[in-house]
Amino acid sequence: MSRPTPTALKRRLPSYSELRPLMNFATPTLNFKQRRLAKAASVWDLRDIARRLTPKAPFDYVDGAAEAEISLHRARTAYRDVQFHPGVLRDVSDADLSTTVFGERWSMPVGLAPTGFTRMMHSEGEYAGSAAAADAGVAFCLSTMGTASIEDVAGHAPDGTNWFQLYLWRDRERSRELIQRAWDNGFKTLLVTVDTAIAGARLRDVHNGMTIPPQLTLKTVVDAAYRPEWWFNFLTHEPLSFASISRHSGTVASLVDTMFDPSLTFDDLDWIREAWPGNLMCKGLQTVEDARRCIDHGADGVIVSNHGGRQLDRAPVPLHLLPKVREALGDQVTIGLDTGIMSGADVLAAVAQGADFTLVGRAYMYGLMAGGTAGVARMLEIMRAEMTRTIRLLGVNRLDELGPEHVSLSTDVPATGTWV
Ligand SMILES: Cc1cc2nc3c(=O)[nH]c(=O)nc-3n(C[C@H](O)[C@H](O)[C@H](O)COP(=O)(O)O)c2cc1C
Repeated sequence: MSRPTPTALKRRLPSYSELRPLMNFATPTLNFKQRRLAKAASVWDLRDIARRLTPKAPFDYVDGAAEAEISLHRARTAYRDVQFHPGVLRDVSDADLSTTVFGERWSMPVGLAPTGFTRMMHSEGEYAGSAAAADAGVAFCLSTMGTASIEDVAGHAPDGTNWFQLYLWRDRERSRELIQRAWDNGFKTLLVTVDTAIAGARLRDVHNGMTIPPQLTLKTVVDAAYRPEWWFNFLTHEPLSFASISRHSGTVASLVDTMFDPSLTFDDLDWIREAWPGNLMCKGLQTVEDARRCIDHGADGVIVSNHGGRQLDRAPVPLHLLPKVREALGDQVTIGLDTGIMSGADVLAAVAQGADFTLVGRAYMYGLMAGGTAGVARMLEIMRAEMTRTIRLLGVNRLDELGPEHVSLSTDVPATGTWV
């Protein structure tokens, strides 16, 4: 049967007054950085930009992990496999992501993890991290292997919540001087990294012949042709130097080996506790028993972490370990979590399972490589938007209303890695 064509389906020429409201030509901008950052809709997008702009060796130094990179794959997979259980028909018009850590207010439960050699990823390095964190109202951690001094970070972000991360040296007097400088400059929380008896084996760095600082070889000069912005920044800013160690030339592994002390034991925590008047967190806990021992030795809290999978490969998955650590330590102890977090929804899954806050290492580095300070700010903005959306879709307004009932974990350990 043939039907008459409805009026709405008859063709006709559009009038200007109909077209006008649809015309939305963006004003062209010459700010390429702002443009590329605005287009990034996830941390993974920032990673793509970072890979395009950064030479292979520094990009891989960030992106890679130890050995077959199974720890990192598993940590990320654990977030991917989370199942959320939302409540519906709740009034979520007033969502609030803020939290309090050691008496200081954070606007959301994610801080920037300590990273070494940061100015190699982008010459703004720790200046970008500390400024973007302060502007966003979250904490920034300066690494012992950072490439800006304690004083410079304190001067650049005096309004920020700045934390200091310590690799305890064999030379105790140098360690004492360092943490004294941190305290004198307003760093109130010390993270002692405890998962680095020796350096992990980062195979990408070996393959890339990665050195600190990067060497100008024929290969890197060719690379410069493709990544002019990075090389221009690198060559026209002050050379890399370290927050806490004198100049070093050599491979990453050789530098790291001069830093770490394989003879450290829990008794050394007593020394740090006595030397440090502020809040003390141990970073890199991978068993319930060790987390408890850190608290017994005077730590105020622990960070459940496997160092972003950069140390022991096939280590426990931090998100899976977290509920057990929370149960063992109780509600009063401050517990942070890192490794594998790539979105605001990941952060909320961790909070629901008992974390007071989380830290991001690579997500911060991807933002940095993608656009310096503006890139880190964009990363935090993306995470905040993701968290705001997720918490509302979960039917919750505040972080302390989130609980294990909102998230189930799939604790099977998947067989993934670079060789699987
Ligand atoms: C490039 C890079 C450098 C790092 N340097 C340090 C460091 O100097 N001290 C430290 O305690 N952890 C260091 N870490 C580990 C981070 O603090 C954090 O534990 C880890 O990145 C979290 O995992 P994620 O990258 O998946 O977020 C580094 C991580 C990266 C990616």
